[in-house]
Amino acid sequence: MKIAVAGKGGVGKTLIASGIAWTLARAGRMTIAIDADPSSNLALALGIPQRDAETIVPVSEQDSWIKKKTGTKFPGVYNLNFSVADLVKDLSVPTPAGVHLLVMGTVKSMGSGCTCPANSLVRNLLRHLIVDRAEAVVLDMEAGIEHLGRGTAECVDIMIVVSDANRQSLEVGKTIARIALGAGIPRVQLVGNRIRDEAEKNLIISFAEEHGIPLLGLILYDPTVSSAGVAGEPVLSLEGTPALQSIEEITRTIAQLVDGKKTDRVGV
Ligand SMILES: Nc1ncnc2c1ncn2[C@@H]1O[C@H](COP(=O)(O)OP(=O)(O)OP(=O)(O)O)[C@@H](O)[C@H]1O
Ligand SMILES: [Mg+2]
Repeated sequence: MKIAVAGKGGVGKTLIASGIAWTLARAGRMTIAIDADPSSNLALALGIPQRDAETIVPVSEQDSWIKKKTGTKFPGVYNLNFSVADLVKDLSVPTPAGVHLLVMGTVKSMGSGCTCPANSLVRNLLRHLIVDRAEAVVLDMEAGIEHLGRGTAECVDIMIVVSDANRQSLEVGKTIARIALGAGIPRVQLVGNRIRDEAEKNLIISFAEEHGIPLLGLILYDPTVSSAGVAGEPVLSLEGTPALQSIEEITRTIAQLVDGKKTDRVGV
């Protein structure tokens, strides 16, 4: 299955993407996490030390691999697809979380700050990547909505829109959900994160109802997660915390939604 995690900046996308990927890997799935956010650090969240993360060569600097796999000499005609095993063998790096990491990186033309080539690379990669039932791909997306217009994540089975109880985050989430549904993504669901009290919980529940976005789950504000974030600690340090338990539950629900049934191990 292919899962995209989107939302406004700072709402918890990387925490949730890394938590889902780790849960799936522990359940025995061959899991690839794609860091599609040029300013994110999914590597750190999956347990790679900062100094090693800095040495990862992003896919945007080895795009000849994807061109070789998908291109033909006829313009607009694409080649056969490739597999998760191909990516694991040729492009990804292993992480202490047992997840294979793919860092997309960015191609910036001087001054413009444009990240289009990396985005089209993500789209091309997802379109041609065959993922079987024992495998999973989790995409930690760039914040906001600008890149969505370019169809970055149209080839996923489910998009998770993360929001906290902040009105602006919810509005951005609503726009993302609308674009994702318009792009043909079959399931688009909301995850409410960093919830501090009943009022915040109720705000998210009623927002989801009002706008017809199914609510996949809620994650409470967790001080352990917050301090781990400040200290740059990986998701692995959060085992047993209420936040991670909620992410595990959310992962089980995703597996049920996408695969139609629960499978072995921890129920994922
Ligand atoms: N449930 C939670 N309880 C407490 N702190 C949280 C929770 N979820 C996320 N955080 C903290 O909020 C901060 C932002 O989280 P994260 O980096 O996952 O967000 P993001 O959406 O990926 O941000 P960006 O848009 O910058 O990539 C981190 O410091 C993280 O530890
Ligand atoms: Mg992030």
